[in-house]
Amino acid sequence: MKNRFFAFLMAACVACLLTMTACSAAEAPAAGSGVDQNTAARTSEPQPVNAFTDIPANAWYAGAADYVHKNELMNGVGEGRFAPEETLTRAMLVTILWRQAGEPVVNYLMQFSDVPGGQWYSEAVRWAASEKLVGGYGDGRFGPGDPITQEQLNLIFQRYADRPVTGGIPGFDGSSKPATRAQAAAAVMNYAQLPQEEAAGGKILVAYFSATGNTRPVAEKATEATGGDLFEIVPAQPYTDADLNYSTDCRANAEQNDPDARPAIANAVEDMERYDVVLLGYPIWWGRAPKIIHTFLETYDLSGKTIAAFCTSGGSGHEDATLRDYEPNATWLEGRRFSGASQVEDWVNGLDLPKTGDAEADKMYLQINDTVWTASLEDNPSVSAWRELLAKGPLTVDMSDYGGFEKVGGIGTTLPQTNRQITAKPGDIILYQGNSVTIYYGENTWNFTRLGHIDGVSEAELREALKAGGGNVSVTFSLDGPTGGGAVRASDFEAKTVAQQRP
Ligand SMILES: Cc1cc2nc3c(=O)[nH]c(=O)nc-3n(C[C@H](O)[C@H](O)[C@H](O)COP(=O)(O)O)c2cc1C
Repeated sequence: MKNRFFAFLMAACVACLLTMTACSAAEAPAAGSGVDQNTAARTSEPQPVNAFTDIPANAWYAGAADYVHKNELMNGVGEGRFAPEETLTRAMLVTILWRQAGEPVVNYLMQFSDVPGGQWYSEAVRWAASEKLVGGYGDGRFGPGDPITQEQLNLIFQRYADRPVTGGIPGFDGSSKPATRAQAAAAVMNYAQLPQEEAAGGKILVAYFSATGNTRPVAEKATEATGGDLFEIVPAQPYTDADLNYSTDCRANAEQNDPDARPAIANAVEDMERYDVVLLGYPIWWGRAPKIIHTFLETYDLSGKTIAAFCTSGGSGHEDATLRDYEPNATWLEGRRFSGASQVEDWVNGLDLPKTGDAEADKMYLQINDTVWTASLEDNPSVSAWRELLAKGPLTVDMSDYGGFEKVGGIGTTLPQTNRQITAKPGDIILYQGNSVTIYYGENTWNFTRLGHIDGVSEAELREALKAGGGNVSVTFSLDGPTGGGAVRASDFEAKTVAQQRP
C-alpha cells in the first residue's frame, strides 16, 4: 500500500516538473493512512485539456484556462498554446475585464496619450477608465503594451470586484513582479465565482454588536449554523472600558437613558436587499438592547424580512420588544438569551427559518445510516450536472478513506469539472476527476471542484459519522431528503444495470 502511495507522490512531482509549475508540499496529498482505487487515477500522466496543447489536466490553472477560454475571455497565443507562464500586458487585462462585462461601449473622453482610437484595446481602455478601474501612470500614459504587475492586477481587481480575488493563486504575492497569463485567468475565474458564492450562502445575515466580546462567538456560531453572512456592527466611536463602566456615570448609561441617542455606526451592510432573514445580536444594557441597535434598525428598511434577535447578558432575560416597532412589516420570531454558543445551533434549527426558492434549490441531503445532513451546493457547471444526476433519484456511493483526510467513492459516471486550486476543509464535498465524490474530514490543497459544504457540522461529528480511517461507509446523496432505501447504488449505476432504469 505504502509503495503505491509513494509511487503516487513521485508521479505527482514528476508531473509538476513536467508542467514547470510550483509543486508545494501543500499541493500534494499529505501522507495518510490508506490508499484506494483512486490512486490509479491520481497517478495518471498529465494530459492536455481544453483547446490548448500546453495545459496539463492537473495543472493548478487548468480549470481557469478552461473557464476563460470557454467564456471567450482569453484566447491562446497561437498554435494551440495558452502560454500560461508568459506575461500579460495591461491592455490585455483590461480587455479581458471588458469582455467579461459584455463589451460595453461608453461615451467617455479618452484621457491617455498612448491609447489611439481603433486599436483592439481602445474601447476596453475607455470603458475601464470610465469605470475608474485604471488611472494610468499619472503622466497621461496608460502603457498598453507594458506587462501588468501583480500589484497592478490586484489593484484593478480590488476596484472591479471590491474584494480580493487573488488569494491562493500560486506564485501570486501582489509584488511588482509581472503577473502571468495563468494567474490572470485564475483571478478572472475567482471573480466570476464571487456573486455565485454569495447567492449560495447569502440569504441570511447575522448582524451583531459586541462591546466586550461575549456576543461575538454566539453570532459566529449562528453564522456557521445557518450558512449566512456575518456582519459586525462597529461603533464609529469605539467604547472604552470607562464608557462601559455601568456603575459610574458612563457613556453607555447616558445613551441608554437618552431616548434620542443614536450612536453612529462605522460600517454598512452591503446590499441588504439580498437577505431574507436577519439574526440580530447584542448585549443587554440596562435590560434592553444598546442604542446602537436602534441606529442599525433606523438605517435599514427590513420590511418583508424575517428577524430573530438574540442577546447575551449578565443574567437578565432576552428583550426585543423595544425594537419591534422599528420594523413593523417584518416577521419577528421569538428571540433568545445565550450564556454561551453551545445552544445556538438548536435555537437556529428550531426557528424554522423561511427558505427561499433559491435557498432550497441550493441544498442537498446526505444520509449515512441514521445520520442526515444538509449541504449547501455551490453554483458552477459541475453542480448543475450533479443536480441533474440527483434529480433522477437518490444516489448511494460506497466511500473509502484516502490520505487521512477524506472519504472518496466513484459516482458511476463522469461529470464536467470546474477545477481550481482550493484548500478543501472538513465538510467540503468535492468532485474529483469528474468521476468521484469526496467528503473531507481533514484538509488538503489540490486542483478540483467544490460541489458544496455540509451545513453546521463539526470536524469531530464528521469523523465519527464517516468512520474516518475506519473503512467503507455508504453515503446516500439526494435532493429531496432522507430516503427509505430506494436509492441507486453508484456501483450498479456504473455497471449499467440500474442506469438503464434511470431516465
Ligand atoms: C452598560 C452596561 C449595562 C449592562 N446592563 C446589564 C443588565 O441590565 N442586565 C444584565 O444581565 N447584564 C448587563 N450588562 C452585562 C452585559 O449584558 C453582558 O456582559 C454581555 O454579555 C456583554 O456582551 P458583549 O461582550 O458582547 O458586549 C451590562 C453591561 C454594560 C456594559
